Amino acid sequence: MAAAAAFLALCAGPAVAADIHRGATLYTTHCAICHGANGSPVMPGAPDFRRMETLMRPDMQILPAIKNGKGSMPGFFGILRDQEILDVVAYLRTLS
Ligand code: HEC
Repeated sequence: MAAAAAFLALCAGPAVAADIHRGATLYTTHCAICHGANGSPVMPGAPDFRRMETLMRPDMQILPAIKNGKGSMPGFFGILRDQEILDVVAYLRTLS
């Protein structure tokens, strides 16, 4: 259901386009502690978001890693909604 909603949101076009400014705020609150204020990793093992290759995958492949967690990264399921995660991913894409 949530995945379907996110899929619809992606297909719906500019009306619900990801909000990069909201993504930036969420990133500072939830992600910067490990991923660094400008995407340069603070925690060992975290990917470098300034390198474009890190995010050369569709949003729908990056979303589950953030929702469920990966390695030493905690999952954000129940903390961030899918649309909020996609806002953060849109912001990440501005860092490289
Ligand atoms: C506790 C530290 C920590 C926090 C907080 C954190 N991350 Fe991570 N993140 C990591 C680490 C470590 C990895 C590398 C995981 C691995 O590949 O084993 C990672 C990996 C990733 C990846 C790459 C996933 C993949 O499939 O390769 C993305 C994208 C990402 N983080 C985004 C985020 C976002 C967005 C947030 C905030 C909502 C966030 N992270 C919060 C530590 C963190």
